[in-house]
Amino acid sequence: MNTEPKVYLKPNVVLEPLVDNWYAWSHLISPATASMNIAYRHLKIMDSYIQAPQIHAAAVRNPKMRGGPFMDLEGDRSEEVQALKNTTLETQKRILEFSEAIKELDKLLQSKAAGYSLEPLYQEIPEILKGYVELFYDLNNHPSYRLFEPLLYKSEFYRPESQSIALWITNNDERPFVLSTPRIPSEGVLHLPVKFDDPFIDAFSAMKRTAGSLSDIKSMISLTPEQEAVFDTFFTTEEPVPYVKYEGDKIRMRYFGHACILVEVNDVSILIDPLISYYGYQTSVDRFSDVDLPEVIDFVLITHNHQDHILFETLLPLRHKIRNIIVPKTYGGVLQDPNLKLMFEAIGFDNITEIGEMESINIDQCEISGLPFLGEHCDIDIRSKICHHVKIGDFKILFAADSCNIQNEVYQHVHKTVGDVNILFLGMECDGAPLTWLYGPLLSETLSRDKDSSRRLAGSNYERGMGLVDVFNPQEVYVYAMGQEPWLEFISSIKYTEESNPIIQSNKLINTCEERGMVAERLFGEKELLFEKSLALEV
Ligand SMILES: [Fe+2]
Repeated sequence: MNTEPKVYLKPNVVLEPLVDNWYAWSHLISPATASMNIAYRHLKIMDSYIQAPQIHAAAVRNPKMRGGPFMDLEGDRSEEVQALKNTTLETQKRILEFSEAIKELDKLLQSKAAGYSLEPLYQEIPEILKGYVELFYDLNNHPSYRLFEPLLYKSEFYRPESQSIALWITNNDERPFVLSTPRIPSEGVLHLPVKFDDPFIDAFSAMKRTAGSLSDIKSMISLTPEQEAVFDTFFTTEEPVPYVKYEGDKIRMRYFGHACILVEVNDVSILIDPLISYYGYQTSVDRFSDVDLPEVIDFVLITHNHQDHILFETLLPLRHKIRNIIVPKTYGGVLQDPNLKLMFEAIGFDNITEIGEMESINIDQCEISGLPFLGEHCDIDIRSKICHHVKIGDFKILFAADSCNIQNEVYQHVHKTVGDVNILFLGMECDGAPLTWLYGPLLSETLSRDKDSSRRLAGSNYERGMGLVDVFNPQEVYVYAMGQEPWLEFISSIKYTEESNPIIQSNKLINTCEERGMVAERLFGEKELLFEKSLALEV
């Protein structure tokens, strides 16, 4: 008889997905964006660190430099960074050639496509790109190209072997800003060559709630005796706090931080932009966490392809309990707008549905609709962004995420179809980072500093937010997605004070809404909201 005790995974074990030892996000999975980020972000930061580690150390101590291209590493780790650079150059050789070919193709089009037929240029496409691109002009005769992304995923340019996971126990929310700092070997951190679609991730994560055998889970991976000693510390025989199923007859909404909200009604659960904190350690800010998630999540809704709205670190461990993921529809195969459905499928999710603007999906008494998401993408042609409108019975909730309401007429047109809403969730990160912060590695030409800082990843300010309020006439308004919770600083790099513009603007919006008799609040930490389903709007 097997007398091995059943164990649970501790709730404060971090599972950090990595690509080439860098924090994994969607642009490191989609093959073309991955090649550009490896070449023009990772290698660039590594070169800069190797040249002057002390400059990086000084920069990360300066709050004004937070989120900049500086490695947050203790001491001088240039030897390890040099080793990582060498490995990258060796293993990603073809990927780096691919990234150079993208730039060459751009140059070719800019220099030779002058409005005449593009057919002769197909012969001049860099060899490595031939068969993966189609050339075209826009109606102003500006040349461009599209990528056959499904073919790239089936080629040598999609490299799951560069994926891995780091596991360790955390006792606080502190972590360096992950887009600038690769993971360098450190004590207590177990780094395993596990690909993101590996069933180990599901079995391992399920043990947070369902006890299992340590030897069974270990049989799914290979560990050295030293690694095994660390791995064993991740488990406990102590039962976790049980999840209490919501049995009430109201619509329950719980704010988990940033743009993550769980909607529970009847037997349906909907989780928007999942970003879940770890628990099991002392904290100053209360939060909902894994313990508050239902056994099954029926729908995950993704609003847009930014690193703080698609977190593999949350999504991969939840994969075993997610029934469906609804993502904004992607069009076109352009470099800057990779296909989200393909990306999710490549990392082991097989239940992805795309939703387009003004399209709806019906489930039971719920209807999920996609509404236009304006701006916040630096005026780059990116379409994979959507505001989710969730209708439960007659109750309507609009998750506007980071939509920057540049032109209120768009939502006036939308309102003619969807009408007023009961609840508006609105992001107001209205300063935003400049274009190059996120999209710099994809650019063919350098953008001047003044142009760069005029094109920002900025959400709605007071006027634009009030535009949405005026159009949709909600009873309650919640400002969210402000990147302020301490457990997501590692990905948002945001730290506001009372003098910060997004705080001033959102305070003003809250005051105006309150003066008009609405309930209004900027969410922080955790919040539970309960609503009557029968609270229909006056028509
Ligand atoms: Fe965003």
